[in-house]
Amino acid sequence: MACATCHDPNAAFSSVAAVANTDDGNLQPRHAPGLLDVAQNRWFFWDGRRDTLWGQALEAMGTDMRSSPVRVSAVLDRDPVLRGRLLSLAGPAPDSETLYVTVGKAIAAYVETLASPPSRFDGYVAALKAGRPTKDYAQVEAGLRVFLREGQCATCHNGPMLTDGEFHSARLPAAADETAEDTGRFMGLYLLANARYTAGGPFSDDPKGARAQLSAAQIRSRDAWATFKTPALRGVSHQPRFMHDGRFATLAQVIDHYSDTPGSTSLLHDDPAPRALNLTARQKRDLLTFLAAL
Ligand code: HEC
Ligand code: HEC
Repeated sequence: MACATCHDPNAAFSSVAAVANTDDGNLQPRHAPGLLDVAQNRWFFWDGRRDTLWGQALEAMGTDMRSSPVRVSAVLDRDPVLRGRLLSLAGPAPDSETLYVTVGKAIAAYVETLASPPSRFDGYVAALKAGRPTKDYAQVEAGLRVFLREGQCATCHNGPMLTDGEFHSARLPAAADETAEDTGRFMGLYLLANARYTAGGPFSDDPKGARAQLSAAQIRSRDAWATFKTPALRGVSHQPRFMHDGRFATLAQVIDHYSDTPGSTSLLHDDPAPRALNLTARQKRDLLTFLAAL
């Protein structure tokens, strides 16, 4: 199994299947998000249970891929060239765990390079900046207006990547089976506090840095219950599935959800969750054009 088994390069490195984790009984069934621009994230995974990209890679290796320091050492024994390269990164005489962490950091260095290509929206912004006419982008502009005004989408989807980087409820109707409820960030904070490969942990290159401090400052309260990381929206239309459980196969379904259903699910807290928007068919079309242009 490779990272690309679940993160398909032809699907913006997301999973084509709605749910992608291998079932070991411990993982919540979740969609594999796209990886373009992922280096911009503050938190990793839908529940933010890791605070660095290398810690994330090691978590994927340890759970989905059932790897371990011993297994990685065995693989490297069969590949002296790769072993030599990693040793040159890991420092003198590393033990097997240090070597394992170095593999995670090397994978993270690669993942950091995955950047989204220029988009139609960039063309619109460039035209605006240069004072050129934007009539070719009339529907994108109309969709942007719905996004900002009627939709109030920028409450959570804001900044250059169209995410606030934090955790909210999009008020998705819950699974029928309540025992399987995904508590999202609530469990994620517990897992982060108890993880070994973190920004503040023994293998960090900057254990007192801003990321480590931010993680240490997190308080696990019921406001975190069933919240998920606000996904970035840049390049979102290149993904075949949407939401933490991949329940929607089209952006039109996502828009229908925001338009029609949010009022029907209750929350345990006062998060600024979306309310039903009751968009018109035209507003939905414009919003879709805008999302597809990102
Ligand atoms: C068996 C399928 C599978 C494999 C293999 C896999 N992933 Fe994932 N990946 C997922 C799923 C599912 C999630 C979301 C899980 C969650 O949030 O709980 C995820 C999440 C991520 C994220 C978080 C993205 C974000 O926006 O928070 C990154 C980065 C990532 N994977 C990279 C990798 C790398 C690198 C590898 C190889 C070392 C890898 N994955 C292997 C299924 C997989
Ligand atoms: C209260 C914060 C909030 C508001 C307001 C909000 N969203 Fe979201 N959005 C989220 C969260 C959180 C998720 C992930 C939810 C999940 O998977 O459970 C999400 C998911 C999405 C996704 C799926 C992306 C993916 O990669 O799976 C799209 C598209 C999206 N939102 C668009 C919108 C649009 C359009 C609006 C306005 C009509 C909007 N959002 C309003 C927080 C918000």
